[in-house]
Amino acid sequence: MRVTFNANGREVEADDVWEGESLLFMLRERLGLPGSKNACEQGECGSCTVYLDGAPVCSCLVAAGQVQGREVRTVEGLADPETGLDDVQQAFVDAGAVQCGFCTPGLLVQTHDLLERNEQPSDNDIREALSGNLCRCTGYEKIMDAVRLASARKCSKSEVSQ
Ligand code: FES
Ligand code: FES
Repeated sequence: MRVTFNANGREVEADDVWEGESLLFMLRERLGLPGSKNACEQGECGSCTVYLDGAPVCSCLVAAGQVQGREVRTVEGLADPETGLDDVQQAFVDAGAVQCGFCTPGLLVQTHDLLERNEQPSDNDIREALSGNLCRCTGYEKIMDAVRLASARKCSKSEVSQ
């Protein structure tokens, strides 16, 4: 079947999609969007998290055909083609919260969503929001630092624009 949807702001088509195919597979293998990572393929690790119609989902658990006519935003779509990395992406770089990088795309999407809903999350809010995202490398402290940094930058930008 053919699946037509909006990926990171542009209309895309994937052909010859088979019924059991996941959104994750379609993004990576058919559409050249390899940012979302396939680590467990069972909804356990969060590495494949993308926005679907504005809500974070594990793309390994979504059937490709389910996104017909809908909007998907991946980690690639967080960056601005003109201004570069999104604040959350930059904060992860600056805080040294990326090691092997396998968990990073999912953490970025989930953190982006958290800060859209709550600009100044407590440590508990952060832990809760990221509880479905597993990292095998960093021990989470640098990830926490990155989210705090992204939050602080977002808050100071909001103050400037007021
Ligand atoms: S690859 Fe989807 S949750 Fe692990
Ligand atoms: S940086 Fe390697 S799994 Fe998180």
